[in-house]
Amino acid sequence: MSKVKIKELLQTPATGQEVNVKGWVRTKREGKNVAFIAINDGSTIHNIQAVADVQLLGEDALKLVTTGACLSVTGQLVASQGAGQSVEVMAQRIDVYGAADPEKYPLQPKKHSLEFLREIAHLRPRTNTFGAVFRIRHAMAFAVHQYFNDRGFFCLHTPIITGSDAEGAGEMFRVTTLDPLRPPRNEDGTVDYRRDFFGKETNLTVSGQLEGELGALALSQVYTFGPTFRAENSNTPRHLAEFWMIEPEMAFYDLQDNMDLAENFLKYLVQYALDHCLDDLTFLENRLIEEEKTRKKEEQSPMGLLEKLRFVVESQFERLTYTEAVAILIKSKANQKGQFHFPVGWGTDLQSEHERYLVEKHFKKPVILTNYPKAIKAFYMKQDEDGKTVRAMDVLFPGIGEIIGGSQREENYDKLSARVREMGIHEESLWWYLETRKYGTAPHSGFGLGFERLILFVTGLSNIRDVIPFPRTPQNAEF
Ligand code: 4AD
Ligand code: MG
Repeated sequence: MSKVKIKELLQTPATGQEVNVKGWVRTKREGKNVAFIAINDGSTIHNIQAVADVQLLGEDALKLVTTGACLSVTGQLVASQGAGQSVEVMAQRIDVYGAADPEKYPLQPKKHSLEFLREIAHLRPRTNTFGAVFRIRHAMAFAVHQYFNDRGFFCLHTPIITGSDAEGAGEMFRVTTLDPLRPPRNEDGTVDYRRDFFGKETNLTVSGQLEGELGALALSQVYTFGPTFRAENSNTPRHLAEFWMIEPEMAFYDLQDNMDLAENFLKYLVQYALDHCLDDLTFLENRLIEEEKTRKKEEQSPMGLLEKLRFVVESQFERLTYTEAVAILIKSKANQKGQFHFPVGWGTDLQSEHERYLVEKHFKKPVILTNYPKAIKAFYMKQDEDGKTVRAMDVLFPGIGEIIGGSQREENYDKLSARVREMGIHEESLWWYLETRKYGTAPHSGFGLGFERLILFVTGLSNIRDVIPFPRTPQNAEF
């Protein structure tokens, strides 16, 4: 008999047919004559209940059935007597694949803090919360490909090992096979990377954008969806050293088109979650309501999770320039009362507190800021006529801050190479990138969506370490 996923079983009408389920025990309630075993196989947030006759199966066999044990249960699918489930399995046979010593198993059925669960990231997928998060994460990854495929974009795999620093921020992980104790050296004592594996200095990519642009200037519309790596030492709830990014790149798109695509894309993804992950979202919403009860009134969010998601799908994102935003921030009560930790003024980068003020307090909806000062943005952004700003755009979300960063790209060879030199970037290492502006250049634009920031928003969780299976952060690469 083939095993059936619990998700399917729960939708199957009970006609007394024999079924087999395999999964992990969440809880066991034991009466004198029967035991009720809640089993979960990860296919859904819901458990199936197996009812075990103690006499039939034997007390000793049932002793191994404890929280965390892995079982195969065969029996009849019947209508449930109890509330909470429509069907249950009357167990005729139970095989224990793996017991879980109740004295030692770390995931006993009680409330665990997310901090504690991070320390047992190898087991946390077995909790309701992480099961829900990882199913939603899957659905979002699938929806990303669906969205672009439906619109004629091509998925382009860009390299993970590169010799360039796309963002120019210098926060890269070096890739080398040289012996750290005895590297080959040049006459002046510096390391001779010509003798390294690739014959040059290489690092893990911080972004697939530059190669994405090469694709767009041939296939017109492409996207990459891959891991990116940043060695920035920011221990915040919104930064990972290894995160996934979705980067579409489009020929013949200006900044306006780019903003339209970004807004439409985000709404599509959130709507997809509402359409396909309602059980998991409902679970997370209730979890959040419980959590909020422990918080101060002013820290509680005015909307439930589902309401917040629907709100984003329905609202029109506010669009304004960086310059306009800075004026709002300077005039804001928060600024006048000295509530910002970082100063605001034209020319400085906005901090997450400023972004969140604009989104959560001022506009009360997602915001797209454009035309940032060129000094605080990457070399590849198209320069505005005023000589001061570039055609950048950042999409800011409630509770998150920046979720997307993007821009129209500088397509003019002279302007781009001048900017590269001005910023002290090694021009030779970008020869291939610059050549696309020499031969058949075209106006084009693109952006990057931080996948984990999207998952943070959709799940309502507050720490980015909880929306990726195995987070990499400073001082932490366990599992
Ligand atoms: O704004 P960023 O640095 O933009 C780029 O990398 C461009 N090359 C994208 C493009 O135009 N193709 O990063 C894009 C997004 C951010 O808005 C944020 O959501 C996410 O990536 N991000 C991070 N997410 C988690 N941890 C980090 N350390 C992140 N840094 C950026
Ligand atoms: Mg950015």
